[in-house]
Amino acid sequence: MRVTLLGPPGAGKGTHAVDLSREFGVPHISTGDIFREEMKSETELGKLARSYIDEGNLVPDDVTVDIVRGRLGKEDASAGFILDGFPRTIPQAEQLDGLLSGLGTALDTAIYLFAPEEVIIQRLSGRRVCRNCGAVFHVVNIPPRREGVCDRCGGELYRREDDAPEAIRQRMRQYESKTAGLVGYYESGGRLVRVDAGIARQETYRLLREIMAGLR
Ligand code: AP5
Ligand code: MG
Repeated sequence: MRVTLLGPPGAGKGTHAVDLSREFGVPHISTGDIFREEMKSETELGKLARSYIDEGNLVPDDVTVDIVRGRLGKEDASAGFILDGFPRTIPQAEQLDGLLSGLGTALDTAIYLFAPEEVIIQRLSGRRVCRNCGAVFHVVNIPPRREGVCDRCGGELYRREDDAPEAIRQRMRQYESKTAGLVGYYESGGRLVRVDAGIARQETYRLLREIMAGLR
């Protein structure tokens, strides 16, 4: 069960990856989450990542691929994984293929979560994330039981820097110019599955669960 979730910012990659990881027992590997952890701890990598992320730009390929190489080499990823937000450029996708083939395996499927732009902007504008455990909410669509407080751990909810309007616009531009081409990359290799992510969360999840169950 080796999959990646592709799709524009706000499509719901993180939201669904958390649920799939729990149900299917494979790790959820989000490069965005890894960078945010490093930023929180103010490591050198975190400082470097922040200079790109807060503006809505992509972190350079070599830095990102190194992180994924290290993470996929860990024991818990040997039976499968759900990548979220990686790869995000064609060079990253090519390097992922090389990396996995070096480990004697391959990516099964790239799941493309698509949603209309107005839905995406509404989702990103209202997203709130737990500062402590990283759980994701939405002020209207998926509200926490108590405003500003994480249901899961009681931590404080905050708005990501890159969910500010100008950063959202830049992320969308970056997605169109650098990431959208991956749909064709995986389609030509016969590894792409499209899933409507602009509908109710439970409906999208039902489709994802079927795909994952078919890989078992
Ligand atoms: P990353 O954290 O991956 O951000 P992203 O791709 O922009 O995606 P998001 O996390 O914004 O959206 P999502 O699809 O996970 O949506 P979510 O589930 O939260 O990356 C951040 C940055 O790190 C990048 O900009 C880049 O700088 C850097 N980076 C990361 N990976 C990199 C790479 N490979 N190469 C280079 N740089 C990299 O949902 C959004 C909201 O909608 C939430 O509020 C949620 O509650 C709500 N929601 C979700 N689904 C539904 C639904 N069905 N109905 C209603 N509401 C919903
Ligand atoms: Mg995410």
